[in-house]
Amino acid sequence: MKIIKSVSEFREAYKNADKPLGLVPTMGFLHEGHMSLVRRARDENATVAVSIFVNPTQFGPNEDLLDYPRDMESDLAMLGNAGVDLVFAPSANEIYPPGFDTQVDVGSIGSRLEGEHRPGHFKGVATVVCKLLAIVRPDRCYFGQKDAQQCLVIQRLNADLNLGAEIVVCPTIREPDGLALSSRNINLNPDERKASLVLYQALGKAKDMLESGEKDAEEIRGAMRRIIEHEPLAEIDYVSVADPFTLEELNEISGEALALMAVRIGKTRLIDNMMI
Ligand code: PAF
Repeated sequence: MKIIKSVSEFREAYKNADKPLGLVPTMGFLHEGHMSLVRRARDENATVAVSIFVNPTQFGPNEDLLDYPRDMESDLAMLGNAGVDLVFAPSANEIYPPGFDTQVDVGSIGSRLEGEHRPGHFKGVATVVCKLLAIVRPDRCYFGQKDAQQCLVIQRLNADLNLGAEIVVCPTIREPDGLALSSRNINLNPDERKASLVLYQALGKAKDMLESGEKDAEEIRGAMRRIIEHEPLAEIDYVSVADPFTLEELNEISGEALALMAVRIGKTRLIDNMMI
């Protein structure tokens, strides 16, 4: 496994790499969720590249950039065991050198939900993903459904700017009790870890209600909110039952819907979603 820190070195490695090339972009502190993307990429491509870069531009001024968990040694060991060929782990200066002054402005899909609660977040995500696609030039690029809105933003970006990668969205990986895997779960203390189950419970409730014939999306949002509000350690950022492609809030559900939420458990902000 080759560990590459600069864009110019990556360009050299790219020339010699067998194609197709699959990229898994990450911010490190890898867990089974990331590794499921890596395994899928390994199955589908001759060369697998993983990027590890905690992208400063997607964190707001009051967010957890400095506290974001990092463990490069363990990440590299996991990637080595999974048969990854190339690891791209640039510095912030390599990605945003002095004079850097271009950003990707995402449209309506990025302005709702996460976009509303984390202004500038998707501009940072879209800009760095655009750069990673330009540097790594993958045939396929792998993302997790846990970040459902991010997947939609990136699919739009890839189509609108003709970036040419196939965007592969892989299922959310959960703990046995339902909590979606996330690097941020490490910050939950034991009480918060128990409290965090309200996210999955609320999503399950949404699914049950729809399956039992409830078509009124506001009724479903209300039931989800009540489950979360019952937990004293949880504070809702948003609860949504939306169109799975546009993320517009639904009134009446006629086909599939996406239930999404962001909830603060203590200081840790968790997101989750489920197709219902
Ligand atoms: O999902 C993530 O880990 C990040 O948002 C990504 C896609 C690697 C961009 O920094």
